[in-house]
Amino acid sequence: MSDDPLPPSSPTPAPGRPTVRTAAVIPAAGRGVRLGPGAPKALRALGGTPMLVHAVRAMADSRAVSLVVVVAPPDGAGEVKSLLDAHALPERTDVLVVPGGDSRQESVKRGLDALPEGYDIVLVHDAARPLVPVDTVDAVVEAVRDGAAAVVPALPLADTVKQVEPAAAPGEPEPVVATPDRSRLRAVQTPQGFERATLVRAHETVTDDVTDDAGMVERLGLTVVTVPGHEEAFKVTRPLDLVLAEAVLARRRLNDGF
Ligand code: C5P
Repeated sequence: MSDDPLPPSSPTPAPGRPTVRTAAVIPAAGRGVRLGPGAPKALRALGGTPMLVHAVRAMADSRAVSLVVVVAPPDGAGEVKSLLDAHALPERTDVLVVPGGDSRQESVKRGLDALPEGYDIVLVHDAARPLVPVDTVDAVVEAVRDGAAAVVPALPLADTVKQVEPAAAPGEPEPVVATPDRSRLRAVQTPQGFERATLVRAHETVTDDVTDDAGMVERLGLTVVTVPGHEEAFKVTRPLDLVLAEAVLARRRLNDGF
């Protein structure tokens, strides 16, 4: 019943290279409190379409991805399933919906547990990054196919970063303890790509709190590599990010019109 056409894409296996199936897990169980009151973040509309639908389409746009596992708010799996049924996705892509957990890590683990046999590459993509371009998705898949155990899209930083001694109370001055060399820092995005077995092992072994899946693979002592990220893969976290996301969509619509 909907909406935007799906752009063509993506990496075809090189001659002589076996087809490796890729699944994407989308943790979408967060409440998104920093965005302000309202529906869970993934269900907020962008350009009239829920953020989660944009994120699922962004994965499905890659011809490499044949399964998308959406991890829904624990009490909202039914609602999410109906939502996805109501929006057009490419026929070649299967979609599964599973209930999430209390933390992002737990939600991703539940998504991994639901993966059928036969998928050897797994992408993990935040529902909160609805506008990642297909070329970025493809670059991540390609790097895993080329042998990397874990791949993250990354961008250089515009801001200098300070390490501080956190203040006892919000708003109090915080002593700066270090200034890391900015040229060696990167901001990382999603989708992050993994050999499935590596990611499963990381989730079985690493119990510390981490903010991304590649961080868990680092804890295993394995090398994580970067590929170029994209400015449109930003995370929708605060109200201003919604304004930016609407502007990106408006620009895409304008460009598609020509
Ligand atoms: O909170 P943060 O912005 O880091 O969340 C990143 C992603 O993890 C979001 O897509 C959010 O929906 C998801 N998440 C989840 N389960 C949680 C917390 C966050 O799936 N319990």
